[in-house]
Parts: sequence; structure tokens; C-alpha cells
Amino acid sequence: MISKKMAEAINEQINKEFFSEYLYISMQGWLASQSLDGMANWMEVQSKEEHFHAMKLFNYLIGRGARVHLMAIDEPTNDFENPLQAFSKALEHEKLMSKNINELVDVAIKENDHATRSFLQWYVDEQVEEESTVERIVNMLKMVGENGNGIMMLDRELATRTYVAPADASGATGA
Ligand code: FEO
Repeated sequence: MISKKMAEAINEQINKEFFSEYLYISMQGWLASQSLDGMANWMEVQSKEEHFHAMKLFNYLIGRGARVHLMAIDEPTNDFENPLQAFSKALEHEKLMSKNINELVDVAIKENDHATRSFLQWYVDEQVEEESTVERIVNMLKMVGENGNGIMMLDRELATRTYVAPADASGATGA
């Protein structure tokens, strides 16, 4: 049986993952309003990944016999100055999420919960990928600056991203 402290920490992380989904939907909306449909597509895929992250934790808690406690989701930022600012905020957010996951692992270690520690390794690895993917886009946006052609080329590249649900039964309902 999972400890009360561990379950509470996972419930808080579920809320943070749903907030991430919400934040990326908000960025999707703003980018679409700027006719940057490829970048909006990238954010849509990202928001679906966040939904998966939340549901994977949700299903894990249920599997361990704990109660899921859904909390209110904060309002995300809805307006951005330009694509660079939106993606920079996304990078900043992913760095914060990595910190949150590390703190969750710390709780699992303190609670001597080896099963949860092992389960969370997937998130630790996922965060490395999340940060590096967004960082690459931020760097490209910095390179193109105000160059319209550069922005359009990047927009076209980001239009090709598609959502692929990870082959993981514990998060299958997140797809
Ligand atoms: Fe679920 Fe992008 O952190």
C-alpha cells in the first residue's frame, strides 16, 4: 500500500501535469491566432503528451489502491509577445517540471517506496527529452529572429509533429 504522503505528492503532480496540458493549449491558441499553424500543432501535440503524463500517474495511483484527488487547475498565461517568448516560457516550464519530478523521486526515496521510485524513472527520462526538444526550438527561434522566411520554415517543420501514444498500458487511457 502506498503511503498517504506519497499519494498526496502524486496527486499534486497530477494537477501540475494537467496544468501543463492547459498551458500548452493556451499557447496553441495564441500561436493559431498569429496564423502560425505549425507551431500551434506542435503545442497541441505537447498538450496531449501532458494529458498522458497526468493519466499515467492517475492510473498508477488507482493501481496502488490509493484515491485520486483532482484539484483546481490554475489559469495559464494566455497572451505572448512573440513565438520566442511562448517557447521560452515552455522551456522554463519544463525545467520547473523536471524539478517537480526530482522532488517527487525524493519523496519516494524518503518513504522507502521502491515501486514508486522505479515507476518515476520514466518521468525522469521523459523530462530530459522534453527539455532538450523545447530548447532546440528556442535556439532556432533565436537564430531566425525577426526573419519572416525563417519563422515560416520553422512553422512548416513543426507542422509535421504528430502525437503517438506511448506503448504503456498504465497510461493507455491518456491517449
Ligand atoms: Fe509532463 Fe512536459 O512535463
